[in-house]
Amino acid sequence: MPIEEKQAQSLLPAELQAILRCLNCGSKLDSDGGGGYVCSACKRAYPFVNGIARFVDAQHYAASFGFQWHRYQKTQLDHDDVREADLNFRMKTALRPEDLKGKLVLDVGCGMGRFAEVATAWGARVVGIDLSAAAEVAAKNLADREFVAFQADVFALPFAPDSFDLIYSMGVLHHTPDCEAAVKTLGKYLKPGGILAVWLYSGYNKWYRFSDFWRRYTHKMKPETLHSVLKVAVPVLYNTQEVLRKVPLVGRPAAGLLHHVFPVNRQSTPEARMLDTFDWYSPKYQSKHTYEQVFRWYEAMGMEDMRIGEFSIAVRGRKPLR
Ligand SMILES: C[S@@+](CC[C@H](N)C(=O)[O-])C[C@H]1O[C@@H](n2cnc3c(N)ncnc32)[C@H](O)[C@@H]1O
Repeated sequence: MPIEEKQAQSLLPAELQAILRCLNCGSKLDSDGGGGYVCSACKRAYPFVNGIARFVDAQHYAASFGFQWHRYQKTQLDHDDVREADLNFRMKTALRPEDLKGKLVLDVGCGMGRFAEVATAWGARVVGIDLSAAAEVAAKNLADREFVAFQADVFALPFAPDSFDLIYSMGVLHHTPDCEAAVKTLGKYLKPGGILAVWLYSGYNKWYRFSDFWRRYTHKMKPETLHSVLKVAVPVLYNTQEVLRKVPLVGRPAAGLLHHVFPVNRQSTPEARMLDTFDWYSPKYQSKHTYEQVFRWYEAMGMEDMRIGEFSIAVRGRKPLR
């Protein structure tokens, strides 16, 4: 079906009209006729720039992610032959296609849109928000889907309470200055009976200590500079580990020590290793969490029917119907 025809049939524009709210005064927003919005009461404008409506004035601390997702636009995006994000989404949310089919879903920190690709393939209508310019990439990657991307901050979302059937946030909230506050802010945007699923970095395994140490310095580098450094460092460190592993007796412990002190991602392709290693060393904020913590946050929100996914820390819960 041509894209224009699909968009004409989409429920999303009318649904957005009903749930979008002004960040200034909380009133309803009207379309400005060019992809942006304007407040019906205070007239604050939310302009449409580079393919998306903007609810923030800048990328703030998330600029490295804007760089990352523009540089690696499709590396992690599923296509007909590869359904890795699909598998990942199942393990990190414990959700299945029937949980999303026909639902209005919010993807918090959508990045370049890999999980929104899965959610729309499962039949959901998805609103993706991201603080960084990654939202532009998501809008382009998923232009033929029931999907809309906004540049917006999880701490100031332009939606009415009780708007979404399901909200998920994969690998995002630990990159904010206050993960607990970020998780807790999401409950109010769920309809009663709606599901909140988050996946956060695990605090149980301490392998990341050295990347945390190096990141104190690397996050201050310009993303372009850090990327150039890693373009040399990642292949050198990875290949050195591979050579060391072949040395009898001392080789494996030496490779392990090198990996411990200078961690680099060990996926099978050079591009995937670069992307994920950049993703470790570039963010300003990167907290780690336990199930005990996250369950307490969900309980404080009054969530019920708590479940965990296969890949920690994956927690999901339901907003009570009453
Ligand atoms: C590691 S990426 C994950 C992207 C996507 N969920 C995925 O798994 O492919 C983290 C994303 O969180 C976004 N982010 C960080 N702080 C945010 C905030 N306060 N509000 C919205 N998005 C935020 C970043 O811009 C970045 O795209």
